[in-house]
Amino acid sequence: MNNYSYMDQAPLQEEVDIHEGIENTLTILKNKLKYGVEVKREYGDLPHICAFGSQLNQVWTNLIDNAIDGMKGKRHLWIRKSQESVRILVEIADDGAGIPSEIQPRIFEQFFTTKEVGKGTGLGLDISRRIVVGQHKGEIRFDSQPGDTSFQVRLPINLQ
Ligand SMILES: Nc1ncnc2c1ncn2[C@@H]1O[C@H](COP(=O)(O)OP(=O)(O)OP(=O)(O)O)[C@@H](O)[C@H]1O
Ligand SMILES: [Mg+2]
Repeated sequence: MNNYSYMDQAPLQEEVDIHEGIENTLTILKNKLKYGVEVKREYGDLPHICAFGSQLNQVWTNLIDNAIDGMKGKRHLWIRKSQESVRILVEIADDGAGIPSEIQPRIFEQFFTTKEVGKGTGLGLDISRRIVVGQHKGEIRFDSQPGDTSFQVRLPINLQ
């Protein structure tokens, strides 16, 4: 899932459908979602955007994957999408354990993980930030408290 060695070779697409990318990601993660996670879609209309489509799918995969990993038992995953003037906003939120405040400053560091050896490489958020900020001139932020964690990705509609 973390094939960022191909990052520079991906073609810039004019008409990326974010909705379709997220739905495809959810289909791929279906097995992981089986264990009692309820997906709540709160979708506004979105324009197609100019972006590196497969890279963005990697971002959704990493964020949804993290949200599912943070959950135990019956939990919810919210996916919200909306347009904010010249940008789009995708929010991925969960009601899992949350990110302890003492590690919050470190989660985007390369190789920072709280998962067992062999389970997490600590690359997911590092790669996601490079894709969103470095490749798309967007923004990725989060808010987290126990039972309420949300990652917000903002992307320009017209990447030049
Ligand atoms: N939704 C979330 N809920 C709880 N903790 C989170 C969440 N998202 C990220 N984290 C914390 O941030 C850390 C870093 O995340 P990151 O995706 O970079 O690496 P990872 O998930 O540990 O490993 P990898 O993504 O490479 O498999 C995680 O180990 C976890 O502690
Ligand atoms: Mg991860």
